[in-house]
Amino acid sequence: MTKPHPKTIKPEDLRSARWFAPDDLRSFGHRSRIMQMGYAPIDWAGKPVIAIMNTWSDLNPCHAHFKQRVEDVKRGVLQAGGFPVEMPAMTLSESFMKPTTMLYRNLLAMEVEEQLRAHPVDGVVLMGGCDKTTPALIMGGLSAGLPMIYLPAGPMLRGHYAGQKLGSGSDGWKYWDERRAGNISDRQWLGVEAGIARSHGHCMTMGTASTMTAIADAMGLTLPGASSIPAPDANHIRMAAECGRRVVDMVWEGMTPDRIITAASIRNAGVVAMATGCSTNAVVHLLAMARRAQVDFTLDDLDALGRTTPLIANVRPSGKDYLMEDFYYAGGLLGLMRNLGDKLDLGALTVSGLTLGEVVADAPVYNDDVIRSLDNPVYREGSLAVLRGNLAPDGAVIKPAACDPRFHIHQGPALVFDSYPEMKKAIDDPDLDVTPDHVLVLRNAGPLGGPGMPEWGMMPLPIKLVKQGHRDMLRISDARMSGTSYGACVLHVSPESYVGGPLALLRTGDIVSIDLPNRRIEMLVDEAELAARRAAWVKPPERFERGYGWMFGRHVSQADKGCDFDYLAPGFGRTAGEPDIF
Ligand code: FES
Repeated sequence: MTKPHPKTIKPEDLRSARWFAPDDLRSFGHRSRIMQMGYAPIDWAGKPVIAIMNTWSDLNPCHAHFKQRVEDVKRGVLQAGGFPVEMPAMTLSESFMKPTTMLYRNLLAMEVEEQLRAHPVDGVVLMGGCDKTTPALIMGGLSAGLPMIYLPAGPMLRGHYAGQKLGSGSDGWKYWDERRAGNISDRQWLGVEAGIARSHGHCMTMGTASTMTAIADAMGLTLPGASSIPAPDANHIRMAAECGRRVVDMVWEGMTPDRIITAASIRNAGVVAMATGCSTNAVVHLLAMARRAQVDFTLDDLDALGRTTPLIANVRPSGKDYLMEDFYYAGGLLGLMRNLGDKLDLGALTVSGLTLGEVVADAPVYNDDVIRSLDNPVYREGSLAVLRGNLAPDGAVIKPAACDPRFHIHQGPALVFDSYPEMKKAIDDPDLDVTPDHVLVLRNAGPLGGPGMPEWGMMPLPIKLVKQGHRDMLRISDARMSGTSYGACVLHVSPESYVGGPLALLRTGDIVSIDLPNRRIEMLVDEAELAARRAAWVKPPERFERGYGWMFGRHVSQADKGCDFDYLAPGFGRTAGEPDIF
């Protein structure tokens, strides 16, 4: 489903023509080196050169099919009269990369921007899907400014074990609690391990991967509805080829990302995030992408959307029972966006050349229990809420829909940990002095303290409470949590404790108060006492003394600003122009 626009770019105006067209020694060098690979002028002369940025790796199972999909994209590019070139880019494998992929999101964004700027390419297909690959590729692509399409990896098939559906992440947590409580055997545990990830593709709950690809779709950066297609489905192959065909036309049409990413498309992304019961990670990434696109979009905008957008995707972890495969069969993101109607700005343009309104006009919904109508939502509001107070003056986030409602208004004594190992040791202590009303607090886990805001925010419950049958309690941290997680977890506390944010002043036994309806989070400690603690606070030593981590420590912003590097913001300075070719 695409619509061609007038072709405004002539072959001699192609960016790649600077490398290939001139009758000089440098261009001789470029042409002869292309010919070294067996190509002839008919392959490239006067044709858009399309980069296919591939984040494949043997250590990223979510992108295991990308080696084949590159060939499908190439087929489409060739069909449309372009010249496809595969360009590998760093992968961010959520499963294996430590301490956290978030530490490297901005590095991949920089790699994308600089690779595109430095090479003779006219347009790009960005291939990602595993969590941070989506925002990283989009951030880099936005800054590079070439016509681009995002090709989402697609969710893996539903997990399966012993007649039960298994959801990525969520069921890992759930069965782990049962194992800690001594309720399942080694053999059962192995069955869960073998059944939870059965095919290539990204996590198939509405975790960070599904949320971020849905956001890319809602922003108009994927072919319409592409984000919902399961990775092993033949439709995914056809979609990949169509990406190749369409991006060639986008080059001729001069359809650069600034025509797609506007205040309207960013807001649409926020609405869809709320309607899908998004991962909390979406907050940080959406803020960062908006800033790259020079769109003014804040935590308060997201909170306002959370109050007015019903959660209508009945997909775990916020929804019940269903997974991304069910969501696709039910009508996918196009069906969901049709149900959202005028909550979206339907005039926003998509890479297809169609407006969002044209794209969703006839989108069917086949199962209205999976994709609900606005008057029969899973939750009337509450995908995300932004809290503020003396514990988080610059904001913190929580997923009200994914936590036990008894914690929506709650007061309890804090149990404070300064590091993950300290917390882990304590929660495994059967004699820990803890009650279900306690508030677990983990600090030094933010952008600088983690470093990289690791997904430690869904702290495991103390074994003592698990054995008593408890499955949720209030937890607060400056960390993130996996999008597949759930529970009463207050996250992204800003400013973080590592830089002296108020969380650093909290002590075990202090009473913490949360009031979700009024969006407040407080420590009930008087100001004189807090001032004394502030004066006594000592800044921890730097995490890194050299290399990329050292640079990260000097330039990353706090969570409420999206954790981008200050020097990558569009307003930081003049953008490098086209490279000199001498
Ligand atoms: Fe790649 Fe979850 S591990 S998306």
